[in-house]
Amino acid sequence: MSQVYSTSRELLLHQQPEQPMYLFHRTLLEQSIEQFQQGFPGLLTYAVKANPTAMVIDTILQQGVEAFDVASLAEIELVQGQAKKAGKAVVLHYHNPIKPEAAIAKSYHEYGVRAFSLDDVSELEKLMRQIPDPSTTELSVRFVAPMKHAVILDLNTKFGAKVETAIELLRKVSEAGFKPSLTFHPGTQCTTEQAYVDFIACAADIARQANVTLHRLNVGGGFPAIYVKSQGPDLVDYFAAIEKAANQYFNVAPALVCEPGRGLVNDCVSLLLKVNHRRANDDIFLNDGIYGGLMEMNFADLGWPLLCWRGDQVIAGKKTSYKAFGPTCDSIDVLKQPMYLPHQLAAGDYIEIPLMGAYSSACATQFNGFLSDAYVQVEASSYCALQQGHEEPVYAKVVGL
Ligand SMILES: Cc1ncc(COP(=O)(O)O)c(C=O)c1O
Repeated sequence: MSQVYSTSRELLLHQQPEQPMYLFHRTLLEQSIEQFQQGFPGLLTYAVKANPTAMVIDTILQQGVEAFDVASLAEIELVQGQAKKAGKAVVLHYHNPIKPEAAIAKSYHEYGVRAFSLDDVSELEKLMRQIPDPSTTELSVRFVAPMKHAVILDLNTKFGAKVETAIELLRKVSEAGFKPSLTFHPGTQCTTEQAYVDFIACAADIARQANVTLHRLNVGGGFPAIYVKSQGPDLVDYFAAIEKAANQYFNVAPALVCEPGRGLVNDCVSLLLKVNHRRANDDIFLNDGIYGGLMEMNFADLGWPLLCWRGDQVIAGKKTSYKAFGPTCDSIDVLKQPMYLPHQLAAGDYIEIPLMGAYSSACATQFNGFLSDAYVQVEASSYCALQQGHEEPVYAKVVGL
């Protein structure tokens, strides 16, 4: 069992990590899971892609989540391995609409997967060739409704059958003897619940025109995390809108499933970075960058709070705008947005970035030999302490140099 620290200050008292370090706040994840379990009007599944770290998956298993959205054989093996260790049984939804045919066969025969997604006829043909008994298996047609809302990353430019194709495909799925379902994804960090309502209305239309009674309707991920510059309404508003729309647009509402990634795991991880170098012109060089845990920062300016440490003390005071570079030799390894940090920042200081649970370590590469994958458990989150209305975490000593 690795050491658990009470705060990031305590961690810094014991070690000054040279590598980027992810601080896992387990209680925050437990609370977030509970919110979905108690509020979502259907089955909660976790989208493993957002954060496949062992600590995260294990906590999700321990909290009683039994179903997982996976996108590859590697994710299937990972979840099954962790579940076995934890003595839990799990159900896997292989919801990558385009899969290698060999992976379909292996997931069905060796790993017992009985739920897949698809968005065209060629994928259906692969599934029909590899699945000997369709009645055991759910096939969810991924569709795309006309998008009326803005999202930070539109996930419907790559996947999703248009309405006419979805009607045809759903009918074929049903005729082939599979359990016919529909699935969609309104886009990640979807800050309006109306997007789900529009997609659910469209799903009802597709099912009606295909003359198919749905086994289930999967409303995807997309539930927003709370960043400084991007927030949606309360999750309870999403849950209420989804339930209401399912009852309103279907004669008999189908069983609902959701597969959140970001909305479930973003809060529970902070990233601790070291400043390796400061130039006279206020360029700073960090031990992590866009090839590591900061990749998403260049996709969207969502707003991450930043907290600086020198030793075990928080540095407060006047802020300067810094251009922040990652550790690799590639000149694109630089953040598009400036970082506003204390003017006296120096090599050897640390920057703690909360709200880094989703698509951070999950997207990190090993380019140039830099790793960004170390996790440690830290009970209290500095961000929560900051939100209690203090300028610095309540547990920190502060120096205003
Ligand atoms: C099929 C599917 N489900 C769920 C998710 C998780 O989405 P989010 O992190 O926005 O909740 C994704 C993200 O790419 C996805 O592709």
